Amino acid sequence: ATKIAVFASGSGSNFQAIQEAIENGELNAKVELVVTDKPGAFVVSRAEKFGIPVLALNPKEFASKADYETAIIEALRECGVEWIVLAGYMRLISAVLLTAYPQRIVNIHPSLLPSFPGKDAIGQAIEHGVKITGVTVHFVDEGMDTGPIIAQAAVSVIDDDREATETVIHKEEHLLYTKALQQLFK
Ligand code: GAR
Repeated sequence: ATKIAVFASGSGSNFQAIQEAIENGELNAKVELVVTDKPGAFVVSRAEKFGIPVLALNPKEFASKADYETAIIEALRECGVEWIVLAGYMRLISAVLLTAYPQRIVNIHPSLLPSFPGKDAIGQAIEHGVKITGVTVHFVDEGMDTGPIIAQAAVSVIDDDREATETVIHKEEHLLYTKALQQLFK
């Protein structure tokens, strides 16, 4: 099984979908560590429920981003992590981590990139009035939601219903991420 770390800043529903896919035998991987920059995030409780170790570091407690990422890399190496899976990790990755894990960091984003990068992609799509949006899995580089695209899925915007649209997008994320990771780890 491929040893992975999941990085998340929020709810962690993608983390949970990945972990459930592993437990169901749909994904040949093992989450060795959950990394968060938000020690109070709900993803921490989810990880604890599954008995997965959590590294919660507040970047503000480090002198620089390089120091922060170096501390993460040490923990990743101790666990033998091979791939980094970003799942709602709302921070740019710097050259320090990119150099430590070249071509081994992936991200999921709730839009058809390159449309609507950054925060609240679903809100941006609705605000713009697009009728079709979607989900993208891509390799990470130093940009915000840039980097080579691995997989995409389209989702229709449900008129005047942000909540319903969000629900469909999140469901699609959970399916697409598992599928894309399984391909990558083959
Ligand atoms: C997901 O929709 C993910 O695509 C998005 O954050 C959400 C996290 O949800 N990521 C980005 O917007 C990255 N720019 P989750 O914590 O429930 O997995």
